[in-house]
Amino acid sequence: MQRAVPQDFSRVLSSMCTEPHPVAREAAVRFLATNPGDPSTYQRIAELEAEVVSGLGELAGLPDAHGYVASGGTEANVQAVRAARNRARDEWTTAPETPNVVAPESVHFSFQKAADVLGVELRTVPVDDGYRADPSAVRAAVDSETVLVVGVAGTTEYGRVDPIPELAAATHDAGGDRPFLHVDAAWGGFALPFTDHAWNFAHADVDTMTVDPHKLGQAVVPAGGFLARDRAALDALAVDTPYLESTSQATLTGTRSGAGVAGAAAALDALWPDGYREQFEESMADAEWLAAELDARGFDVVAPELPLVACELPESTFDALRDAGWRISRTAAGELRVVCMPHVTREMLRRFVADVDSFSPK
Ligand SMILES: Cc1ncc(COP(=O)(O)O)c(C=O)c1O
Repeated sequence: MQRAVPQDFSRVLSSMCTEPHPVAREAAVRFLATNPGDPSTYQRIAELEAEVVSGLGELAGLPDAHGYVASGGTEANVQAVRAARNRARDEWTTAPETPNVVAPESVHFSFQKAADVLGVELRTVPVDDGYRADPSAVRAAVDSETVLVVGVAGTTEYGRVDPIPELAAATHDAGGDRPFLHVDAAWGGFALPFTDHAWNFAHADVDTMTVDPHKLGQAVVPAGGFLARDRAALDALAVDTPYLESTSQATLTGTRSGAGVAGAAAALDALWPDGYREQFEESMADAEWLAAELDARGFDVVAPELPLVACELPESTFDALRDAGWRISRTAAGELRVVCMPHVTREMLRRFVADVDSFSPK
């Protein structure tokens, strides 16, 4: 078999993955043959996982967080729904018959998967003019069967941050057996600590959170983060594991490679907080530069709040850019979206803008 070579990142502009930090890559290889799914047998990787959870907790305003390193944001979001559904079933005075989850329509499609596999109803509500969750719409959709309200801190399409404290208020005002509040910071979590946004466990009564080392955290895939304020959320996920050395497991996956955990531990150790701050400032400046360049050419730009730019482009220009090798995607409304991940440099963006010029209708 020929030695296969992966793509390089020099034209990858819409992905939320990036080149891992070299220390993460090296640690991942070292721990490839470990299984954090059985922490009693694989004790060193279990210790590293505890370090990652504590590091993610610090970043998310919850120094003594509970949680684990998931396979990605999808698993963490599915688990948030599962924990809320199970807790409502087991702890509420009246268990919901058809549990529902209320989320803004900007929510990631992983919640559709969660609803499908867990048998809950996903109620999406319109966002406001700024692409953020509208707390009054959320409030109106919540009822006595709502087990979870979701807010997004760094939306996939526009990089917007939902008003998390207002969503917490909407959740609490539901009264009685109140829904849990989950924040999906899968992508935004490693940028938001360097902004003024109110998004984390310290800013509002958030119950669970997704924050992924394998996105802006520069860890190796697969490394998602599931965090919980209370141990009870993890207990609600745990099942007995008779044939393992460990006696219970809260993860959705069973056996999983320690590579993601080790990579996340190494990246956090090397980059938190200064390295991540520097990267955020550089990426944000690049996003603002790109937005200004596209705006100056008369295109409709959604101004970046985090390092993500969305912009209307003529169809022919978009297609020509793709044909030229740029790996770009569209929002549901059809705009180009450029995610300024750590591998995206100013030089790369200059080359991209030059191609936008050459492929624009004269
Ligand atoms: C906000 C958000 N949540 C969840 C996910 C899903 O993460 P993953 O692809 O790691 O499962 C993404 C992916 O881009 C995302 O942007």
